[in-house]
Amino acid sequence: MDRLVIQGGVPLLGRVAISGAKNAALPCIAAALLTAEPVQLRHLPAVSDIRTMIRVLQALGCAAESQKDEAGFDMSVQLTAASLDTGELRAPYDLVKTMRASILVLGPLLARFGRASVSLPGGCAIGARPVNLHLEALERMGAQMTIDKGYVEARVPVGRLRGIDHAFTKVSVGATENILMAATLADGTTTLRNAAQEPEVGDLAIMLQAMGAQIEGINTPTLTIRGVERLGGCEHAVIPDRIEAGTFLCAVAAACGDVVLERVEPDQIRSVIDLLERCGCVFTERQGAEGRHLRIQRECGQKLRAKDIATAPYPGFPTDLQAQVMAVMTQATGISVIRETIFENRFQHAMELERLGANLRIDGGTAIVAGPCPLTGCTVMATDLRASATLVIAGLVAQGETTVDRIYHLDRGYAGLEQKLKSLGARVERVGGGKV
Ligand code: EPZ
Repeated sequence: MDRLVIQGGVPLLGRVAISGAKNAALPCIAAALLTAEPVQLRHLPAVSDIRTMIRVLQALGCAAESQKDEAGFDMSVQLTAASLDTGELRAPYDLVKTMRASILVLGPLLARFGRASVSLPGGCAIGARPVNLHLEALERMGAQMTIDKGYVEARVPVGRLRGIDHAFTKVSVGATENILMAATLADGTTTLRNAAQEPEVGDLAIMLQAMGAQIEGINTPTLTIRGVERLGGCEHAVIPDRIEAGTFLCAVAAACGDVVLERVEPDQIRSVIDLLERCGCVFTERQGAEGRHLRIQRECGQKLRAKDIATAPYPGFPTDLQAQVMAVMTQATGISVIRETIFENRFQHAMELERLGANLRIDGGTAIVAGPCPLTGCTVMATDLRASATLVIAGLVAQGETTVDRIYHLDRGYAGLEQKLKSLGARVERVGGGKV
């Protein structure tokens, strides 16, 4: 099993291009099921979750041709869902269990074919993560669901989903995306209230519009979708990954340095930039030839100020950066109170940070970090994608050698993290002989 070996204490210097957003690309891939025409997606990150999602579509009978770009960190794919086996339409457990986002095929399949069989994802390292909000809304749209041998067996007896006026009882990125896709081909108009406003939802809506969907209220909490008879193919480039960008910002904030992020949307990580600015980092933004550039500076030896954060749905502070910010706060002067409000079990990185020397305490959904704390390298184990990134950041700070084990979690969502860090001067090696 691969691991990363990091020699810490080196500031990060240089430029790095941000890949396409994993969490935008996943629903965009599922959306290809809404049409028989080819869908061309560009600027997908070359990570294992994307390959898994493409495999889910292939298992449903979708044709897929993918190609990596020159640097190997991004890829494009052409998906054609023209000749699916409509008797089967089954998303199998062995794929779904490795990636919960597979549930996103349910809405498109029901909308286009009036039937679907999708394995329930099962447990997850960061919290319970039920899919009740997805299922409840689809039932209101006319789907009948049963759970049989671990699969959601869904049918639309009248053949076509109907539009509904629906208020989600909790903000959910995945449920908003699933129902948004389902509504594009439903009979009548759907209004989704308390919808997630994450940029990934907006990106999916823009892709759906390019396919011919009628959607209003994009990037607001109320989406109105007028169902159409059919959708066509499209070409779409997914947005830059704001969580990858935020991870690099945290790495520089924690380990010091001067780095320019290329192909980034600073407005989509404003909460993170504001936080790190209040901690003492310096930011500069400008327009480059290929999108916006964001420069972050923290001089070696410059003190950071500890700040409190609470995660919240967009535009609040992203839960997907909570772990990385905890690594930053171990280096800040003072007490930082970090509240996780989205997932109930997302502090597993904290115990590993303690092993590196961090001074922190967990109390339910709150972590209290006291800094600055010198970190010393040792072997730590990753438990999920963002926890892994945090341990890498801590390894960049720690004196001596840090080994981060189980980095297949990292490979699920970060395209070439160690090569990108190396290009910034970090001393990081992958050991174990696996693929990049
Ligand atoms: C998306 O997960 C992201 N994944 C997650 O990214 C991210 O952490 C999360 O949104 C929150 O921003 C993808 O986009 C593929 P939710 P999702 O539905 O859609 C509860 C990463 O590291 N809930 O917005 O599954 C749920 O338990 C990750 O890249 C229900 O109760 O998250 C949670 O407490 C991991 N019932 C809250 O809502 C439901 O039916 C928000 O979850 C659905 C969700």
